[in-house]
Amino acid sequence: MLQPFPSGRISVYSIPAPDAERASGQESPRVSYCPSYQEGVCQKYHFFKRMKLCFWRRCLLGILPTVSLTVTAILLVLHYSLSPAFSFTYISGSVEIPNLTYTNDLNDPTSQKFLLQAKAVQNYLAETYESSFLGKYYLKSVVATFSEGESGLRAYFWNTFWAPQDMVASLKKLTPVEQKEICSKQAAPLFSSGEEDFDLDTMELFVSDSIEYDVMLKSVSFDLYAKPGNNRTLTLMNPKKSFYQWRLRVPSNYVVRLVVITLRGVTPESCASHHLSAYDFLLPLQNKIITRWCGPGAWTPSVVRLTSSSNVMLLTFSLDRRGERNILKAHFQAIPKIICGGHYTSWNGTLSSPYYPSYYPPNIDCTWIIKAPLPGYKLSIKILVIQIQEKSPGSSRCDKDWLEIDGVRYCKALSENNRNREYGYSVEINFHSDELVTHRGFYIEYKAFSHTDRCNPEKLNCGDGKCKPQYKSCKDDDSCRQDSEENNCSYKSCSPYAYKCLNGKCLLKPNPECDGKRDCTDGSDEMNCACGRRQLKRTRIVGGEDARSEKWPWQASLQMGAHGHVCGASVISNRWLVSAAHCFLDSHSVRYSVPMGWRAYMGSHTINEKSNRVAVRSIIRIIVHPQYDQSISDYDIALLEMETPVLFSELVQPICLPSTSRVFLYGTVCYVTGWGAIKENSHLAKTLQEARVRMINQSVCNKLYDDLITSRMLCAGNLNGGVDACQGDSGGPLACSGKGNRWYLAGIVSWGEGCARRNRPGVYTRVTALYDWIRRNTN
Ligand code: ARG
Repeated sequence: MLQPFPSGRISVYSIPAPDAERASGQESPRVSYCPSYQEGVCQKYHFFKRMKLCFWRRCLLGILPTVSLTVTAILLVLHYSLSPAFSFTYISGSVEIPNLTYTNDLNDPTSQKFLLQAKAVQNYLAETYESSFLGKYYLKSVVATFSEGESGLRAYFWNTFWAPQDMVASLKKLTPVEQKEICSKQAAPLFSSGEEDFDLDTMELFVSDSIEYDVMLKSVSFDLYAKPGNNRTLTLMNPKKSFYQWRLRVPSNYVVRLVVITLRGVTPESCASHHLSAYDFLLPLQNKIITRWCGPGAWTPSVVRLTSSSNVMLLTFSLDRRGERNILKAHFQAIPKIICGGHYTSWNGTLSSPYYPSYYPPNIDCTWIIKAPLPGYKLSIKILVIQIQEKSPGSSRCDKDWLEIDGVRYCKALSENNRNREYGYSVEINFHSDELVTHRGFYIEYKAFSHTDRCNPEKLNCGDGKCKPQYKSCKDDDSCRQDSEENNCSYKSCSPYAYKCLNGKCLLKPNPECDGKRDCTDGSDEMNCACGRRQLKRTRIVGGEDARSEKWPWQASLQMGAHGHVCGASVISNRWLVSAAHCFLDSHSVRYSVPMGWRAYMGSHTINEKSNRVAVRSIIRIIVHPQYDQSISDYDIALLEMETPVLFSELVQPICLPSTSRVFLYGTVCYVTGWGAIKENSHLAKTLQEARVRMINQSVCNKLYDDLITSRMLCAGNLNGGVDACQGDSGGPLACSGKGNRWYLAGIVSWGEGCARRNRPGVYTRVTALYDWIRRNTN
């Protein structure tokens, strides 16, 4: 398991560079050319001795896919080397330094810590650029600020160049994506992976200009951090200076919501020198503007809410000094990052852009699939609000931000009669926002209907001329004739999305089980609910350690004699454990398939814990799924019957089994736990580990794993790598919480390529797909 508990740093693995890149030889850095008046700026840095420097041409060979950009870059250099006019230009960006944490003293650019950290980054950038083909134009790198990164410390910097003017102009004409490509791959081919001090996968680079740089230098800065639940205020009254900036930060799994309440003094006619701008970055880059207020009608007196795409936002206020009565009042807060999209099967509902009515974040893609609950029904969709960034002037299609319904893109206001349309039984809806400029977003309404069923859209046809609300059935209400045919009223078999009550009735309400409401008339949805709850004691010993085994009380360790811990398992009742089938395959020397050798340990925290609170049980039966397919790990599930029932305590509790219809939307955060290897090819963990992973879209995962993902599997992890289950975690739980802090067994640790590798998420046995089999065999 690759994340120490309680929530230590995620292990980050360097991704092996492609062979061609690795083949690059070692060469001492070239002495770069310095414009004479800037002589002092050019220094040779040898800070990162371990960094393998390579000659840029050889490096370029390693990046054939971007060969056309390479050629462009070379031509640019050749051509503009001859051109006489030079000017300052800037490549700014950010990068993460794993292992380091963001602390408050990093807010202060004069602190020892800031200076040290900044120097390390600056040296690295200097060394890299000086050895690249831009080396002769390179002057210096400056770290402006830091923030909390996803798995380390994020540094924001500017690189200054003295370069041919025309070359800069051409670079600026490129799209942000091309700029990024040129800046990272071409201008500095030495940014290669494998460097441990910087996580180069997190590097972002942009061509910027002196205006942006000047604004940053001249601004009066405020550095603010908001913890979840805190509101931090920003006020500016009668400002004496011309430039102000607020660098807003929140913890890394949150986004910044800025609420601008009052804005006075953003006057017409003064757009160039007078504006309030919000950026999706901590540097004032044109490429990262979320929105800007200036000019006529910039501010209609209403509150505006903006959302960032990550855990930082920059707000700048540029004023011409004449406006003395300028006022800005705003506050910001940390809000949890949402994963947008999902599958919905419903008679009606609404959908909106992320965080609506707040401005949607830049750089987001969402996909929703909406289905009518019954075949024969269709969907009608009405766009109630659409305020998104419009297409570029020459473009025929929405090319910046868009809402796409059934393949048709929308990005501007619609007239009343173009807002409503009918679709088929299922509709795919996509939303895309680019890196720049956001608005309020969209809000749509959908309804299922049928041209033939007069009871539509929300009523059930009882076949006797009566229509009933869907959640009732025709039979159990006297408004339906007693002898009414069952299949006119309810449906013989539930659709996979419907929950099936014990009496066979289907519910359309998503995830009705154990939600505290009786949804089935026979109450069966609230029946097997003594599960999935932690029995955490309220009183804690001050300064003591968390009683961590109480946190995952369904976790069991399956051990076999001298072999010790082999696999994980989950307690699902006082007699039964669920684990993975592959744990019980015989090897040359060990007969893992025989129940006798196994012991299940429940309630332990450290692996060989000797405590009377730990429950140990022998196994009398192992039921491996009859369709278990060893070659592809399909149906990787086994049930273990304990010799005597286990007593539940705060240390031992069963986890809830999710019924077939339960949905775990992709993006949902779940936890995988176990004593498995702490990294690939490493030893087992001594104490129980937990890792926070997200559910991954099935088709995305299937693509990553070359169609090896069957419907009895699901993927969870982090596509950037770094967090995952590993050898020895197999059979253990992937637990997701539902209503009322109840935990459900969404998956069983099954397989994965390596551990925690990028784009190789963990693959789990999909418990919902095997629910009926589990119930049948354990009752
Ligand atoms: N098969 C492994 C075991 O027996 C578990 C592998 C899980 N791998 C992963 N990358 N999630 O313990």
